[in-house]
Amino acid sequence: MTPAPLSIPPALADTLARAVNVVVFTGAGVSAESGIATFRDALTGLWSRFDASALATPEAFAAQPDIVWGWYEWRRAQVDGTEPNAAHRAIAALAGHVPALTLITQNVDNLHERAGSSNVVHLHGSLHAPRCSRCARPAAFPADDAHAIAHEGRAIAPPACAHCGAPIRPGVVWFGESLPTDAWQAAQAAAEQCDLFLCIGTSALVYPAAQLPLHALRAGATVVQVNPAATSLDGQAHYNLRGAAAEVMPRLLEAAGF
Ligand code: OAD
Repeated sequence: MTPAPLSIPPALADTLARAVNVVVFTGAGVSAESGIATFRDALTGLWSRFDASALATPEAFAAQPDIVWGWYEWRRAQVDGTEPNAAHRAIAALAGHVPALTLITQNVDNLHERAGSSNVVHLHGSLHAPRCSRCARPAAFPADDAHAIAHEGRAIAPPACAHCGAPIRPGVVWFGESLPTDAWQAAQAAAEQCDLFLCIGTSALVYPAAQLPLHALRAGATVVQVNPAATSLDGQAHYNLRGAAAEVMPRLLEAAGF
């Protein structure tokens, strides 16, 4: 039996229709329906197949740069080989219906941008912003675009920095590294000033990012979760829309009359 379509509470539809300053905060679940693996979903999650602690750390890159670079190039190839989904597109459209919208993502893919969102705050960096591991200069991907042939688990030697010769690294935040200061400060300010905080597709387990919905709650915002599963936020969010982002987000905008 197909489940009844999710109904949007009228009070929430009204809150969105009247919202002035909206924050959208996304995690890996918003890209799930584009075929990009989340981190912690059992079986399908990236980490069911790889040991992230063996790959997503500065120490791992120093010890085995080819494996780490190859893994990220494979992830980049996954992203470049797919398209934004209806959730990304609805979030991009929402920006045109409210006076102010800040999009904060934990994701390192570029699907929000490719759906039309701008000024995306990437708390955990981006697969598409490689930089030198020594002088930190932004780097370009090699012309031969090795990622096009990247296969899961294939080792690929990272290119050398054109300026200092050190290996180029992925532009993502690794375990043990701090979040980009500007991104984190912008995210905190947005969470503390918004009247509506939409938390979409995150397990809300990783700090400090997971503090953001709590900042919004303390500032008096209405907090909404969109997730097919329960998270630690369920008891604090005002609304828990139990469904897939690509299904829920278009319905949420429709209910608000957007
Ligand atoms: P997780 O894999 O921890 O959580 C993904 C969430 O998305 C889960 O709560 C799923 O229930 C939910 N989900 C799955 N499919 C969905 C769908 N179609 N629509 C909506 N939600 C769906 O990923 P994140 O919460 O993003 O950090 O993980 C946060 C951080 O942990 C990542 O940014 C990464 C990792 O450590 C760094 O790499 C620094």
